[in-house]
Formats: sequence, structure tokens, C-alpha cells
Amino acid sequence: MQESALSSEFQTASVLSCKYDDPVQALRHDLHDELSIVESLIQENLDSEYVARIVQIGEYIFSAGGKRLRPILTIACACLFGPTGRHHLNFAAAIEFIHTTTLLHDDVVDSSSQRRGRPTANLLWDNKSSILVGDFFFARAFQLMVDTRSLAALAVIAESSVTISEAEVMQLAWQHDITISEDDYFRIINGKTACLFAAAAQVGALIAGASESESQAAFRFGRALGISFQIRDDVLDFDGCKLSLGKDLGDDFRDRKMTLPMIRAMQAASTEEQDFWKRTIAEGQQHEGDFEYVRFLLKSRGHLEQVQEEAVAWSEKAKRELENLPPHPLRDRLEWLADFSAIRQN
Ligand code: IPE
Ligand code: IPE
Ligand code: MG
Ligand code: MG
Ligand code: MG
Repeated sequence: MQESALSSEFQTASVLSCKYDDPVQALRHDLHDELSIVESLIQENLDSEYVARIVQIGEYIFSAGGKRLRPILTIACACLFGPTGRHHLNFAAAIEFIHTTTLLHDDVVDSSSQRRGRPTANLLWDNKSSILVGDFFFARAFQLMVDTRSLAALAVIAESSVTISEAEVMQLAWQHDITISEDDYFRIINGKTACLFAAAAQVGALIAGASESESQAAFRFGRALGISFQIRDDVLDFDGCKLSLGKDLGDDFRDRKMTLPMIRAMQAASTEEQDFWKRTIAEGQQHEGDFEYVRFLLKSRGHLEQVQEEAVAWSEKAKRELENLPPHPLRDRLEWLADFSAIRQN
């Protein structure tokens, strides 16, 4: 590992006069050596001696890309506190395994057909394979973490895993229900998405010897970033580009899950529009042209724009939390990442 190369590189101003258009690319460049080790750990651990299907699905989903945002968060937050050995890399790989589990399971639960620009594993194999291989990756994640003997960091991930599962069930319980409140929406996205971002950031800081208050600030940074990220995801589900997203648009509406844009539209709905939401979400009678109508409604009434502003506000919160972490060129990158989270196209 090139920790010395990494830190000396950051002493040169050239790193910050950045040639990249987006912070994910820039961070992938900055953390190239460490991310390569994480990729090797992933590759080694998706292996199964006897079960070819595990390896096939693993290679399929990991090779399809993915931004590797959560490992980036762990490594970057660790680097803010100086050289750290290798334990943070085990956590970075473990967190990407947990993320991959949530994707495999999520695509089953959401009946999704596209992920990372390819047919989903549940479509190509079947739901049962996606669930069970997801479980295998989840178990691998815990092996990787146990190897570090870092109980405090392991506790953070264990708690986050409970919260993710709880939130996915909560979202399921609210499916088809147009009375969901914004508070419930925020509880769901905090659990299903933001808490893994939070844990990824906190664990990096913790393993690298951050103080309790710094590791809590890293957690709050990751959480705000994750909330911004998921609000943006929910906007992109109506207004994104399938090619850049690598996912189908309209999954949330088709699957009758009320996200913030729909909740806002429901709050402002006329009687006629309320009937539309009852028919399409509560009763599940969706016809051709309904999704196009929803897009028109959300755009023309300014709901998407307002929700977008909410995403930006959470990015601003994330940036404020960063001020509690040590100044470092990578902290500047994370600040850029916070801005990007609310406006990303993929
Ligand atoms: C997708 O996460 C799931 C959400 C939380 C919206 P990412 O957008 O980070 O997925 P990949 O790993 O880059 O494909
Ligand atoms: C994120 O929510 C769920 C996970 C945390 C896996 P979505 O269901 O909106 O994620 P995408 O849009 O399918 O990636
Ligand atoms: Mg989904
Ligand atoms: Mg989902
Ligand atoms: Mg989504």
C-alpha cells in the first residue's frame, strides 16, 4: 500500500487543481491504491469453492461497476486521521459487500429489471438466487470485519445492518399507502440508505483513531450525505436518464412506493388528483400514460424542484459536519462529494 505516496501527493497543490468533472472520479483517482486492495479483497471473498452460482452472480454484479461510494467514504475518512494500516480496507470491502446484499435484495423486493446498466440478477437468475447469494455476501462481510478484531467498528456496522433491514420492512409496510407522512419517509430513507453511508464514514474515522466527537461528526456527515443521496435518487426515478442511471425510471411509482416527490404532490392534490393517487397507488390500477402524467404533474407544479432543494439542504448539512473533521485535501474532496450527491445523474 502506498500511504506515503498518498500523503506526499496530497502535499502538492496539483492534486487539487483537479482534472476531473466529478468528485467520485477524483476520489477514485486519489484513493486508487487503496481501492485496488479493496477490489482484491472483494474478488477473493466472493469466491466459493463448491457453488458456481455464487461466483457467477458475484462476478456479474461486481463487474458491472457501481460507484464504490461507501468504500470511498471509509477510506477517505480514515485518511483524514493519518496512516492507518489495513483494517479500514477490510471494513471498506465488507461495507461494499453489505451494500451489494441490499441491492440484490432490493431488486427482488422492488421487482426491478435493470441495475448498473444490466438486467438485474433476479431477472437473469431468479429471486431465490438473489436472496441467498445476498445472504452469502452479508455473511462474508462479517468474516472480513471479524478478521480485524475491531469490536467497536463491528458494532457500528452491526447496528447499521439492523437499521437497514428494519427500514426496508418499514417501507414494505407503507407500500400502497398514500397517507405516509414526510416523517415516515425520512425515517425510511435514513434507515435504508443514510445509515450505511453514516457507518461507512464513522468506521473509517474510528479505525484511524478519531476521538469520540470526531467519529460522531463523521457519522452525522455520512448520514446527511446519504439522505441527500437518496432524495436525489427519488427525484431521478422520475427525472433521470436511464442510460446514465443504469436503472429503469418509474420503479417507485410502478411499485407503488410513495417517495418525497409523490408525498408532496399528494399534499397539494386537488380532489381529482387525490382520486388519481388512490387509483394508481392504493388500488394499483395503473394504465398506459399514468407515469407520464405523474412526471408532468411533479414537474409543472414545482414538486421536483422543491424536493431537489431539500436534497441540496441535506448536502449543506453534510458539509457543515465536515468542518468538525481535520482539514485535509481529502476533506475538500468530500465537500465536493456532498455537493455532487444532490445533483448527480448516476
Ligand atoms: C444505489 O446505491 C442504492 C441507493 C441507495 C439509491 P448506489 O447508487 O451507490 O449504487 P452503485 O453501487 O453505484 O451501483
Ligand atoms: C435504496 O432505495 C435501497 C437500498 C438501500 C438498497 P431504492 O430502491 O430507491 O434503490 P434503487 O433505486 O433501486 O437503487
Ligand atoms: Mg430499488
Ligand atoms: Mg427499494
Ligand atoms: Mg431508487
